[in-house]
Amino acid sequence: MTPHGPDAISAALALSLKSYGLGEGSGAVKVYIDSGRCQGHGRCYDLAPGLFGDDEEGYGQVLGDGIVPPGQEQAARLAVANCPERAIDLLEET
Ligand code: F3S
Repeated sequence: MTPHGPDAISAALALSLKSYGLGEGSGAVKVYIDSGRCQGHGRCYDLAPGLFGDDEEGYGQVLGDGIVPPGQEQAARLAVANCPERAIDLLEET
């Protein structure tokens, strides 16, 4: 049986995180929103509500200092991949 559904998506994301060096055991990862690009599509805070919120006009905002807690890397990458404006960056702190 071919795996499908959320588990398969998680597995695929975990693989891609590893290939980007963002898997477990790497340094802190931080998310940024380029406010000049954000058009308020809201996918970031829908997909990763632990990392992003919205301002009073619906534009995305990084919550706190933007550091991605362990276990939320997949959500962060999902938000990056789903922002139609490519306004979200994911950077690894060195
Ligand atoms: Fe803005 Fe992209 Fe989020 S356009 S609200 S950063 S999904």
